[in-house]
Amino acid sequence: MTAGNSITIAPASTLRGKVSVPGDKSVSHRALMFAALAQGESQISNLAPGADVRSTAEVLRSLGVTIELHGHTATVIGTGRSGLKPPSTALDCGNSGTTMRLMMGMLASTGFQATLIGDDSLSSRPMGRIADPLREMGIDIELAPGGTAPVIVHGEPPRSVHWNSRVASAQVKSAILLAGLAASGTTSVSEPSKSRDHTERMLSAMGASITVDDNTISLVGGGPLRPQTPLTVPGDLSSAAFWLVAGLLRGDMVQVCNVGLNPTRTGVLDVLTAMGAQLDIEHVGSTGEPMGNISVRRQELRGISLAGTLVVRAIDEIPVIAVLATQARGRTEIRDAQELRVKECDRITAVVDMLRSMGASIKELDDGMIIDGPTPLCAATVESHHDHRIAMSAAVARLCVQNDRPTTILGSDIAEVSYPGFYQVLRGLRV
Ligand code: S3P
Repeated sequence: MTAGNSITIAPASTLRGKVSVPGDKSVSHRALMFAALAQGESQISNLAPGADVRSTAEVLRSLGVTIELHGHTATVIGTGRSGLKPPSTALDCGNSGTTMRLMMGMLASTGFQATLIGDDSLSSRPMGRIADPLREMGIDIELAPGGTAPVIVHGEPPRSVHWNSRVASAQVKSAILLAGLAASGTTSVSEPSKSRDHTERMLSAMGASITVDDNTISLVGGGPLRPQTPLTVPGDLSSAAFWLVAGLLRGDMVQVCNVGLNPTRTGVLDVLTAMGAQLDIEHVGSTGEPMGNISVRRQELRGISLAGTLVVRAIDEIPVIAVLATQARGRTEIRDAQELRVKECDRITAVVDMLRSMGASIKELDDGMIIDGPTPLCAATVESHHDHRIAMSAAVARLCVQNDRPTTILGSDIAEVSYPGFYQVLRGLRV
């Protein structure tokens, strides 16, 4: 039941069915932006339908790029960076960190000045991690005091650099590579562990000269990009993760179809397997990104320790992994996850508060959390904190509540950022 911007989730003892999740959000942002930088027309199918990717499309349109959307298919007429036009107003990135951060790199070398703004959540997230390397490349970037948006980018031509990133972040890496495309010479980025590599894959497929040496990516600037068309975006594994966890908790059989299985993103599958889950994975080919169908059913699971590179590969799925950990036998300890504090909300505090209010045994750490399970959860009214993944994790946590009392998620509509229709799919899976 929905009321205003909140939803009350009914109990479900069994879930069954097949789900095709929306197109991958990370791949969709890149598909639109890189198509705009290419020369010629691109057709992109299964584009993510959520508000974040719409923000990218709107920002590109404000820069004069022609984008036609028909359902989940986009046609983009790329005119290259030199075809971008000065925007008449500030570019609104909404709630989308990927839009703002990648645009910072893309706006290098345009010859004009542009201002990027976002909602309250995005306006509190750190932008210095992108501004610092771009300034090193000679681009003048202004930030608000505190290193946040609004971001003003003066579109000077960049010079190539080598940047050692403190954080493993695909957004930092991609912004530098996007600026590096406009520089002469080789731009390279090293990161402490390998973040998602959609940018490298897609730019290579479009003709950019990219080499990967362990955690260092090098790109030779100056060359044109050719459209990668048609391009089919795989289903979003981060969205599929909610159904995988729901299936492990209550599934008779739950299958997610055509989801992306890029190894830099599949940390969640490794985590579930380490917890004892039997995942039935059928590979179904690749469109530059590997894809497959994954089936799960209800199983007994155990707690695990989760840290290091596995956290980077599962960073967006940790909220829903924490939900699962409340039902696993023994202790789950999540460390090295301090990046969660600078996502759409502070996801460490948000998850701990939500699950504690539902009766979980959970302790907050500076860089993660400790969860002891299994604990039956109880109904509660919980906050989304204007964060799509917190709202959807709360809906999955509801599945662990034994009684009929309602669980209400305040600010539930924020799920639209990545997964329009999420609550209807949940209802449809109930047997
Ligand atoms: C993303 C990278 C990750 C991820 C975010 C999407 C991307 O952020 O958490 O949801 O599309 O590049 P960081 O680069 O900050 O790790």
